[in-house]
Amino acid sequence: MCEHARVSATVLVVGGGGREHAIVRALSRSNRRPRIVCAPGNAGIALDAECVPVDATDAGEVTRLARSIGADLAVIGPEAPLVAGVADALRAEGIPTVGPGAAAARLEGSKAFSKDVMVAAGVPTARAITVTSVEEGMAAVAELGPFVAVKADGLAAGKGVVVAHDPDTARSALDACLTHGVFGDAGRQVVVEEGLTGNEVSLLAVCSGGVVSRFPAARDYKPIGEGNTGPNTGGMGSVSPIPDIPDDMADRLVDEVHRPVIAELERRGIPFTGVLYAGLMMTADGPRVLEFNTRFGDPETQALLPRLDEDPYDLMEAIATGTLEDRPVRTSDDACVAVVLAAHGYPGTPRGGDVISGLEAAAATGADVFHAGTATDAEGRIVTAGGRVLAVARRGATVAAARAAAYDSASHISWEGMIMRRDIASGL
Ligand code: AMP
Ligand code: GLY
Repeated sequence: MCEHARVSATVLVVGGGGREHAIVRALSRSNRRPRIVCAPGNAGIALDAECVPVDATDAGEVTRLARSIGADLAVIGPEAPLVAGVADALRAEGIPTVGPGAAAARLEGSKAFSKDVMVAAGVPTARAITVTSVEEGMAAVAELGPFVAVKADGLAAGKGVVVAHDPDTARSALDACLTHGVFGDAGRQVVVEEGLTGNEVSLLAVCSGGVVSRFPAARDYKPIGEGNTGPNTGGMGSVSPIPDIPDDMADRLVDEVHRPVIAELERRGIPFTGVLYAGLMMTADGPRVLEFNTRFGDPETQALLPRLDEDPYDLMEAIATGTLEDRPVRTSDDACVAVVLAAHGYPGTPRGGDVISGLEAAAATGADVFHAGTATDAEGRIVTAGGRVLAVARRGATVAAARAAAYDSASHISWEGMIMRRDIASGL
């Protein structure tokens, strides 16, 4: 026998944020011992995988890389490559891929398309009107409001939604999209939606060949400030499970939301191979879908994958090859909390180049320290290089235990101007 483990398979992970680090870290724990290549990755992912600097949204570059490494499997993290058709290109090369094609990724890439599918599938969602002028928009506000959500139709890096409690705020959000074009083409159509209140839940399911297999419920914390105040971010932390969404309720939600949407897409001749993420609001009148994403959530994935209790490579391969078993994804009975550490200035213009200390001490506590916006400077130090810089994830027997552990681990890490919410998963 050779003393080195034989590489059984090669997997390409596309993307370079905290979610992709969580995917890479999970794959690195597979009994299949795959070779893991990440495109483009980041300074932390480079410790767990080979990183190759390619443009993740360039289908030609990504498929060339996949071919050159002899990829047996590809996993696409972010939405932009999915909407750009990178999964279609990889599948056309015969590479089994986790990630829907461009036609199915429109569920995330166009809020108007997503509404249309939900209405056709009978999925509970807020009433909404799609508009292309400020006048039409204000008529919609008069009909549905004054409490409304104004949503740019296309991808806007998590910044395309304004929740307005009065017509003036709604008008300036409509103006930003339709008069000033701040989101470019993504804001030429706008969805005006009735305002809803309730607790938010992220319910992710892996879907392939018509089989839908859910994860436990998770939650992310979008606003920058404690008590969910201040501007929205990409997500300042996450937790799984959510004690008020037990498994039987999650099963019902998947029956009411994910399965009908997958069936409606199939009726339209659109297959779905990847992760369908429903962002739900639990209102007094029942659950309502706020949005669909067609990928793993960021930072929900950082609190979900550490709980995975089946082989991660086998799971990804089953999704990509249409051999998924008809049962929920197997996860541990414990909880996981991920606390995001962000750079000075976030969510405005984040400051790069601040030297991060305490990474090893945090990892030594047993935490998964996932890198998002990090880089290595000329002196070989890990520095900030993005808004969300790290996510520190810990498991515990209960949410409270996981939360205490995550904050204990995070306390070892610091840099000039580091931002951390202290109330992630509190009160659960
Ligand atoms: P989305 O990108 O559609 O999930 O929206 C981002 C955030 O805006 C959500 O996480 C909610 O906090 C909020 N939001 C979206 N739609 C509504 C709505 N109809 N009513 C109230 N808040 C909403
Ligand atoms: N956690 C929100 C997202 O992934 O879009």
